[in-house]
Amino acid sequence: MYDMFRSGNGSYNIFSTRDLDFHARHRRLLSGPISEANLKSFEHIVQARGDLAVEKIGLAMKRYGAADVMKWWMFFSTDVIGELTFGDSFRMLEQGKVDSPALRGTRSLTRASANASFRQVNQYARDLQKVAVQGGIRVAFPKVVKLASYLPLPLFSETYAASQRMRSYAEESIRRYERMVAAEPNNPKPTLFSKLFKAGEETMSPPELVADSQAYITAGSDTTAHSLTYLTWAVCRDESIKPRLVKELETLPDGYRDEDLKVLPYLNQVIQETLRLYAAAPALLPREIPTGGCEVDGYWMPGGTVVQTQAYSMHRDPTVYSEPERFNPSRWESPSKEMKDAWMPFGGGARICIGLHLAQLELRIATAKFFRAFPNAKVSRLDGFNNDDMEQVIYFLMYPKGKRCLIQAL
Ligand code: HEM
Repeated sequence: MYDMFRSGNGSYNIFSTRDLDFHARHRRLLSGPISEANLKSFEHIVQARGDLAVEKIGLAMKRYGAADVMKWWMFFSTDVIGELTFGDSFRMLEQGKVDSPALRGTRSLTRASANASFRQVNQYARDLQKVAVQGGIRVAFPKVVKLASYLPLPLFSETYAASQRMRSYAEESIRRYERMVAAEPNNPKPTLFSKLFKAGEETMSPPELVADSQAYITAGSDTTAHSLTYLTWAVCRDESIKPRLVKELETLPDGYRDEDLKVLPYLNQVIQETLRLYAAAPALLPREIPTGGCEVDGYWMPGGTVVQTQAYSMHRDPTVYSEPERFNPSRWESPSKEMKDAWMPFGGGARICIGLHLAQLELRIATAKFFRAFPNAKVSRLDGFNNDDMEQVIYFLMYPKGKRCLIQAL
């Protein structure tokens, strides 16, 4: 499976490699900058993007009666990871028109005054929105996708083309950052990758750098955006949860920082429960038993055997989580050891998500800003939006079936 997630330039990256030394080297080079401590220096970027996202959501609510929060959270997470990775983002939040294609039958996002760069931004948005489905297609039909690079096979050719485009977005962005470093060699804008551009520092080859940055922009946007979308929807539809969260958020001081959010118990329970019931990467994560074999849960496994587990079923084990299908943040008030052990939205072990601190920082900040701005937000019924739109569809990543989530403020 991991081979199918190679970058469009053929290079492996930190996510797709199965080579232990390659992985250890990349993890060592990338971990420091994205650690919890270091992320403090990037918090202002997340705060600023969060403010803009909430402002745009408010404008859309005023204009249409409801906002498609899935779209705006996608622009938010994409802008954050873009700016943190490349020093400059695609500015999706600025350029994304308030017009919402999710409100079917109203104006379309791309119709008016499309110029070349705007079209590119929207192509990028469309490609990102399809990452979850296309990742699944690449895993399920690898040979057909390869064939589709030579033959016109609808769907598969588009999947191939999108993976090539994702690579060129990353290449262009790295080149742009290189130009920024060349213009100001002594004071380049700090990014999660800037250490790798410093003369004299250990680094990686240019194709590896492109491949890792591609891993960041794909792994770091959909996942966070879909988590935020489900969180907003799940809180807005439950009148016993929303007021409690809103009340807690009202206690925040002016100019609050992430440090203030980390200590809010209910906010963090809401996030933890969202990541349980709506895990954004809930599918099987295959692992190969090393040469010589080993015992797994009382079963002897010969070397080379592939074993897999997934968050989807772990998070719904009724012996661990009572009423597992119920969104109940309070279950995390005093969690048992079994609950903590079975919670694996970010995977586990040596391959645990490298972006987990960034994802949680984004979730805390965006949730706080949203519910402080719209304490009376509720799920909209406009344009026939209903629970069916939010049914979870899972390939490798998970997304809501209707690919939209309409929320209105009273
Ligand atoms: C709520 C949001 C997120 C969820 C649910 C999530 C989930 C996961 C999971 C389950 C894995 C393990 C995959 C495996 O074992 O093969 C993973 C790995 C990874 N994630 Fe995330 N992720 C999220 C956000 C992010 C962000 C913001 C980034 C940005 C850098 C990111 C980058 C990565 C990378 C590079 C890996 C591969 C790590 C390795 O193999 O060493 N993720 N993520």
